[in-house]
Order: sequence, then structure tokens, then C-alpha cells
Amino acid sequence: MSVDLSVHLAGLQLQNPVMPASGCFGFGREYAAFYPLDELGAVVVSAVTPQARPGNAPPRVTEVTGGMLNAIGLANPGVKQVLQEELPPRLAELAGQNVPIIVNAAGATKEEYCSVVGGEICSSGLAQAIELNVSCPNVELGGLAFGGADGGAVLRDLVEAVRSSCSLPLFVKLSPNVTRIQDVAAAAAQGGADGLSLINTLIGMQIDIKTRRPVLANRTGGLSGPPAIKPVAVRMVYEVAQAVDLPIIGMGGISTAQDVLEFIMAGAWAVMVGTANFTDPPYACPRIIKELRMFMEKKELKVWKRYGGALYERCGEDNCGIGSAGAEAVEAALAQLPEVRFVKVGGMELFYSTGPELVKTLKTRASGFFSILKFMIFPIRHQGGRCAA
Ligand SMILES: Cc1cc2nc3c(=O)[nH]c(=O)nc-3n(C[C@H](O)[C@H](O)[C@H](O)COP(=O)(O)O)c2cc1C
Repeated sequence: MSVDLSVHLAGLQLQNPVMPASGCFGFGREYAAFYPLDELGAVVVSAVTPQARPGNAPPRVTEVTGGMLNAIGLANPGVKQVLQEELPPRLAELAGQNVPIIVNAAGATKEEYCSVVGGEICSSGLAQAIELNVSCPNVELGGLAFGGADGGAVLRDLVEAVRSSCSLPLFVKLSPNVTRIQDVAAAAAQGGADGLSLINTLIGMQIDIKTRRPVLANRTGGLSGPPAIKPVAVRMVYEVAQAVDLPIIGMGGISTAQDVLEFIMAGAWAVMVGTANFTDPPYACPRIIKELRMFMEKKELKVWKRYGGALYERCGEDNCGIGSAGAEAVEAALAQLPEVRFVKVGGMELFYSTGPELVKTLKTRASGFFSILKFMIFPIRHQGGRCAA
């Protein structure tokens, strides 16, 4: 069975929803030696700045429980060299394929962002979209200073300026190191972003207890990778998807097709894979794409987009589970997931909500039904849940 994984995203047509995350794939040269890059949804290159940057002093990468910390500091050869030497071979390799090149761009001032995006990348004709990096935690100027630490006003102004300097699809990459990411997302949308990508790394620190010093020369670094940051990233994608009507590229701790589905169900349209390119080098991305295809085949699904936004909604307005949403809402959610055959419902929800009606609805809809009662603390509630079921 041929499976259609294609996604239309802010003016880009992707043949599948999986692409490497910026900074975890270099400029694609090394990976191109192992597999054809036209297997990917898109090629996303490392951050590019107006001038070459050596990045931070070493050590700038360290492994931590559940992930890694990096303080690379946007090391790159500068926009001119990237446009002359790195992108033309990638464009030639991808000629005639539906695999866009997305360039991640950063600067220290608004003028730098505009000159690198509008003045250089956009006018070069070598990129099909821009990912605006306003979220690097490892540089003193730019990066996070624009990324919404003030709630979003500076970001809105920056996005507006970059938007008017360039006509390519513009994705703004959001930082998780803020209090309310949905406010920052809204600011990017007001500035004219075509899409959002999230999340960048979470600021972390590791200390060597023998030397009593931070392991990274920069002291702090960005935490990334599976499994450490995935739940935070899924939550943030979910919050942004609820608040802003823009396509979202989700990332943070993705290493399997199941992870991809989780992000899609939270509200992402496509995903990026970062640290998994280091933990499972060099084939993490093509493997995940293959797994997605196998998943679709196994479920006898032909078209990927039916999964978009198909979150089994658990939170009612009062945040107390699907029961509070009522049997009708549950049925509506399940209607989006025709392949679901087994349903699990917490006993607490049964006890407090529509009770037997909900069970009846679910029984007609699914061939298997489980009620989870193990977390019930008070015997009376346990009994109530059991009776309702
Ligand atoms: C070594 C390294 C370098 C990174 N460089 C960049 C970068 O240049 N630009 C950027 O926007 N994000 C950069 N990131 C962040 C990733 O693109 C991604 O947002 C983050 O790592 C979360 O995804 P993951 O958990 O799959 O790695 C970098 C991450 C790592 C680990």
C-alpha cells in the first residue's frame, strides 16, 4: 500500500513531516554521505549569522541523564560562506524534489537579523524558508534577548522587521525559557510569522563535584534530547496550538515514530529531530520516517493528514478530565480517531461525570473498554467508579 505522508505547511509542500532540527545536522554535508537527503521532509541547516562565529570555548557539550547539554554558541562560518559553499551542493542534490531547504538565521541586533535574512539569504534564492532563531540560550547578544523574555513586544517588532525584509515563509523558533510560551507565540503571530517551531533547548547546568566547577566552560547550556525534554515540549506545543492559529513544527526529545505522533496529537503539523541524530547517528531521521510509514501501513491508513490535531481531548474547562466534557464531547473526539478500538477511562472521571452514560457511549464506539480504578484512594470512590462502569 502506498502511504501519503505529505504535509502542506505555511506555503511549503513537504513530502513527509520529519526534518532534522537546526544545529544537529550541520549544513547537511556529512549526512549526505550516508543517505540521500531527499528522503527527508526538509533540510534544516545550523544557525547562520552575519559574520563567522567560532562559538563558545570548550568544553561546550556534555552528556547528562536523559539528554545532553550544549553551549555551542552559534558557531558557523558566516552567511556569505554558507551561501557560497554549503547551500549550492545541497540545492543541486535536492533539485526537482519536494524537499525545501530551511535556513536558521540569527543576529545580535534587529538590523543584523534583517540583513542576514532579507539582504543575504532571501535574495540568494538558495533557501525556500527561514527559521528565525530568537531562542538560543548560549549567546550574550541576540538569541533569547529577542525570544520573549519580556513577554513578546521586542519579538513582535523583530518579526515585523524581518517579515518586511523577506518574502519567504518565515518560521519563528520559540524558546521554552519563558513563563508563558503562548504569549510569545502570539507576539510572533502578530509580527507576521507564517509558522512557529518549538522548542529550543531548556537552560541547564552540570557541575563536576570533583573539581567543584561547571562542566561547560559557558557554565550553563541548553538541555535537549530524548527522553529528557519531550514532556515539556509536548506540553508547550499543546499550549501554543490552543492559543495561536499558525502551523507548528514541534520538536524536543523526538526519537521514534510514536514520539512524532504524540507531537502531532498535541497540535504540531510536522516535527524536527535534533539530539537523536547524535544518539542514533546517522540514520535517526530516515528511520523515524520509515517507522511512520510502517505505522500507517499497519493501521491501513493511506493519508497522513487525518492524524493532525487528533488529540484525545482530556481537559474540560475546569480541567478535570474527559468525563467533565461529557459523553458527546468524548464521542466527537473519538470520531476523529476511527481506528481506536480500545478506550481507557480513569475511574475518578467515571464516578464524577456522566457515569453509566459515558460507558454506554464508549461501548458502542469501541470494542474494548477499560476502566482504571487503581489510583482511587478512597474506597467509597472506588466503589462508585466500579458501579458506574
Ligand atoms: C548541539 C546542538 C546545537 C544546536 N544548534 C541550534 C541552532 O544552531 N539553531 C537552533 O535554532 N537550534 C539549535 N539547537 C536546538 C535544536 O534545534 C532543538 O530545538 C533542540 O535540541 C530540541 O530538540 P531535540 O531534543 O530533538 O534535540 C541545537 C541543539 C543542539 C543539541
